Amino acid sequence: MTTAGNEPTGAPSRLEARPEVGKVIVSEPELQARIAELGTRITEDYAGRPPLLVGVLKGAFMFMSDLSRAIDLPAEIDFMAVSSYGSATRTSGVVRIVKDLDVDLLDRDVLVVEDIVDSGLTLSYLQRYLLARRPASLEVCALLVKEGQQRTTLDLRYVGFHIPAEFVVGYGLDVDERLRNIKAIHAYAGPAS
Ligand code: IMP
Ligand code: MG
Repeated sequence: MTTAGNEPTGAPSRLEARPEVGKVIVSEPELQARIAELGTRITEDYAGRPPLLVGVLKGAFMFMSDLSRAIDLPAEIDFMAVSSYGSATRTSGVVRIVKDLDVDLLDRDVLVVEDIVDSGLTLSYLQRYLLARRPASLEVCALLVKEGQQRTTLDLRYVGFHIPAEFVVGYGLDVDERLRNIKAIHAYAGPAS
């Protein structure tokens, strides 16, 4: 295998240089350092009772990939997909389960892995839905929490970063299904013209 020409240059990629991609909110090194810390804490907290990690698709796919590798326990991984009705940048709180879990939650230590908590309505719905399956415990690890936006009280056991209440893209987060494959979290600077 050759890597010639693939070394990081520090210059923005073509994707990052698009006008709709705004300033960096959380950089790649900041993400990786914080995820390593979260992984260490989760490893300590769940020693002797390996968690079932439940990722919420699609936004959490990249976070799940990195977080799961930072957890030094025989964790299991499953995903569910939800879609919230409402406009592209605002949730209504009415959630539809698009893909349900494959594994049984009964008596499992479940850790929900979520990309971002905005109003909190999606997570609040999910928690009620998952608790009905009678897990031994149910906790949440959210990469991002938008400051001052929550319309419901949530118990978030692990949080990566608190960020200002603006729309962000990258590291799994999309606008109309695009820009998920940017390496860092960026502000969304509006539609490309
Ligand atoms: P909530 O129900 O208002 O908390 O919204 C949660 C969901 O909306 C998240 O899981 C994301 O999929 C999506 N979302 C909220 N804010 C953003 C954002 O800034 N960028 C991309 N998706 C977002
Ligand atoms: Mg989304």
